[in-house]
Amino acid sequence: MKTRRYVYTGTGNSLWVARQLAAELKGASIAFMPYPAKDLKVQAEAVGIIFPVHIWGLPGRVIQFVNHLKVKPETFLFAVAVNAGQPAATLLQLQRLMATRKLPLSFGYSIALPSNYIPWGGPGPMDKQQKRFQEAREKMKAITDAVMRQERDKVDRGPLWQNILFSLLYRLSFRQVRKMDKKFWADEKCNSCGICFKVCPAANIEMTKGKPTWLHRCEQCLACLQWCPQEAIQYGEKTVTYQRYHHPEVMLKDMLEQAKADTLQK
Ligand SMILES: Cc1cc2nc3c(=O)[nH]c(=O)nc-3n(C[C@H](O)[C@H](O)[C@H](O)COP(=O)(O)O)c2cc1C
Ligand code: SF4
Ligand code: SF4
Repeated sequence: MKTRRYVYTGTGNSLWVARQLAAELKGASIAFMPYPAKDLKVQAEAVGIIFPVHIWGLPGRVIQFVNHLKVKPETFLFAVAVNAGQPAATLLQLQRLMATRKLPLSFGYSIALPSNYIPWGGPGPMDKQQKRFQEAREKMKAITDAVMRQERDKVDRGPLWQNILFSLLYRLSFRQVRKMDKKFWADEKCNSCGICFKVCPAANIEMTKGKPTWLHRCEQCLACLQWCPQEAIQYGEKTVTYQRYHHPEVMLKDMLEQAKADTLQK
């Protein structure tokens, strides 16, 4: 079956998931969700949407992608919400959004991987990270089977209280996301390499006198902070001592491809 996976990622977890799934399925290809969003007519028989959970819901880029997606009526549609243990109602939100566009989501799975949300304190100890990678590999086998079987009507969701509370917090914070970059700053370790500028998937960084400045159209993917080789980018005051994270099998060059938008991976 010809399968196309569309990916969005800040630190490579979602790209790693997409690659693992593509490796299991013959005829699978990966593309990054384009920026800026544009109308996409996809001919594949199956389309997968693979993305990180942001603030207990869908990142704005995923919403824009779905709003521009056009597929044939018989296309099999599935999604994987990559998260750090709290997917809440993200996949239900996606299912509802897709329904408004007559894009029926056949199944949605969530996969927990190490956290890249540095204000929560970092990705955690290495043994816990390894445990999550192992559990994710197991779950990806289930997802591959589900694609092969063309499974329908299964959407992972968090506990009801989380879905209600966190969905409310998501709605309250969603409009603030673009301006959340006000908390970023580069400390004295910055050597003006420009990687943060190049890796940003939203063209939200400008270099001014060799230092990054943020332009307030941020997606909060945290790629700039997590990929800075000097660990010079901080978010508020606490992150100076917090461990940085990106998926160990995803390289900076992969992220630079995403910043060039819809480059095909495979
Ligand atoms: C702004 C932001 C908000 C996040 N919110 C959540 C969340 O609500 N629930 C959760 O489980 N993980 C959350 N995370 C963590 C990521 O979803 C998780 O680390 C994911 O695996 C990152 O995938 P990526 O490397 O493909 O970007 C958040 C991360 C960021 C950057
Ligand atoms: S990636 Fe880091 S070191 Fe390089 S310019 Fe940006 S802040 Fe400075
Ligand atoms: S400025 Fe940083 S956090 Fe914001 S979209 Fe760009 S890379 Fe992501």
